[in-house]
Amino acid sequence: METVCIPRCRFSRIVAILQIILGVFVVLISVASIHRFSLAGFLLPNNNEEACQRFHTIKEGYADFDLKALSDRVEDVVSQLSELQDKLDATVQKMDQDRKDSMTRSEFRRFLQEEVIQPVYSAHIALRLIRIPKPDSGFNSTEDPLINFFTVEETRKYITPKGNKNGKLSKYGTNKTYATIGHACVLMRKELEEYMNYDIGSYCNDDWHLAQKLMLGGCDPVPRRRCLARASKLYQQPLPINESLWTMPDDRNVRWSNYRCRNFKCLSIKNPRRGFSRCTGCFELEREKLKWVTNASLADFLIRDVLAVKPGEIRIGLDVSIGTGSFAARMREWNVTIVSTALNVGAPFSEMIALRGLIPLYTTLSQRLPFFDNTLDLIHTSVFLDGWIDLQLLDFVLFDWDRVLRPGGLLWVDKFFCIRKDLDDYMYMFQQFGYKKHKWVVSFKSKEEVYLSALLEKPPRSL
Ligand SMILES: *[C@@H]1O[C@H](CO)[C@@H](O)[C@H](O)[C@H]1NC(C)=O
Ligand SMILES: *[C@@H]1O[C@H](CO)[C@@H](O)[C@H](O)[C@H]1NC(C)=O
Ligand SMILES: *[C@@H]1O[C@H](CO)[C@@H](O)[C@H](O)[C@H]1NC(C)=O
Ligand SMILES: *[C@@H]1O[C@H](CO)[C@@H](O)[C@H](O)[C@H]1NC(C)=O
Ligand SMILES: *[C@@H]1O[C@H](CO)[C@@H](O)[C@H](O)[C@H]1NC(C)=O
Repeated sequence: METVCIPRCRFSRIVAILQIILGVFVVLISVASIHRFSLAGFLLPNNNEEACQRFHTIKEGYADFDLKALSDRVEDVVSQLSELQDKLDATVQKMDQDRKDSMTRSEFRRFLQEEVIQPVYSAHIALRLIRIPKPDSGFNSTEDPLINFFTVEETRKYITPKGNKNGKLSKYGTNKTYATIGHACVLMRKELEEYMNYDIGSYCNDDWHLAQKLMLGGCDPVPRRRCLARASKLYQQPLPINESLWTMPDDRNVRWSNYRCRNFKCLSIKNPRRGFSRCTGCFELEREKLKWVTNASLADFLIRDVLAVKPGEIRIGLDVSIGTGSFAARMREWNVTIVSTALNVGAPFSEMIALRGLIPLYTTLSQRLPFFDNTLDLIHTSVFLDGWIDLQLLDFVLFDWDRVLRPGGLLWVDKFFCIRKDLDDYMYMFQQFGYKKHKWVVSFKSKEEVYLSALLEKPPRSL
């Protein structure tokens, strides 16, 4: 057997390498389809078994993986395998010509055919037999809108309706749960796919600004994601509420990487490179402290006077403004709970509000308010709608505010400003609901611009 060993050893090596290559292909394919499910299960500490079952029993194949990518990959494997097979066939023929020793030659031949070509051939056939539905067929588009539009697997998973377990109705009385995304997402497909392109269970990219871009572009609500949001490096314990309301927060409690500034001091109105242009004085608490407690102009109403209109009745409300929560902080001192809308346009408005111990509501003007009809005692708005807003959009917004205000609730329009010639249009908008006027002040802001401040009360509507 000594004479045989050299070629045999070489062939053992070839076979070993082939097996490794095959193994890699198999692992690639398995990983592609399994790794998402296993990570998802790993993130749910309880009911691990149940979670796994749930993920594995989702049967709508078209949404469970990126079919195009998978079929491309399988095509690759198939063509590489057939190349390998050709190469081996050629080697066998060459050996037939080179070697005259019939014993070892036939032995090798047998060896190659049985140990190499056969397994490769059957792997080849096995791969060919995998039935892969065509990406653009086999699904009912009237039932599952938009799924076929998107190609990133996680987006498709997100918007696939999720059937309830065991055919039961959900707590909401529905058969399926639809995770919705705004229709304007189709216009921001690139951003959305970038946003949804992440490793499940690992850290998200530092990309909240991408989510905000989607929200502001009308792709709102933004999909939930299964990755972990990054926080600031050293989160310090927040201040107690008796101190937090009027103290600048610790810089370390904000992740600054997506802002121009790197600390709160830099957000000062004196800094021309602060990175934002709306509500520029909002981070100066000394200035903020004067608002609503001292009347600088006719259009400034005092909280004291407003609450006196409905003594004891104003308990909960919404502040639709761009700001750092000073209105909510002041109202808290009057035992009124205010939720403040906040978008982080150039500065950490949401973080600031939260660090002050108040509630930031991260929402855009595109969305219906997440409150039920006739529930809030007060809606306050300042530095927000201000003369730029399209009248029809304003109409939708005001009707929604009217919806959530309770009968007897107050709408406080705080120094709305616009150019003089638009004033009549805007005044009509605010007056159209027939609210009772407690206060109504129009005053000059500049030669061309005017302020409108109003305190209006929603009438009862017992129809
Ligand atoms: C899609 O589903 C709807 C309702 O379930 C059905 O009426 C329609 O025929 C289906 N279309 C296709 C192409 O299967
Ligand atoms: C849930 O599905 C069942 C059977 O498919 C149907 O009879 C029922 O009306 C559905 N319920 C809802 C709320 O869609
Ligand atoms: C805030 O309240 C805590 C106790 O709740 C007290 O120890 C602390 O002195 C208070 N701070 C101020 C500034 O009043
Ligand atoms: C503030 O309002 C009070 C009454 O509400 C008035 O007496 C006072 O003159 C006002 N101050 C300014 C600066 O407008
Ligand atoms: C707010 O509530 C506290 C505790 O109930 C009370 O002591 C305080 O007087 C209230 N403040 C106002 C302005 O009503």
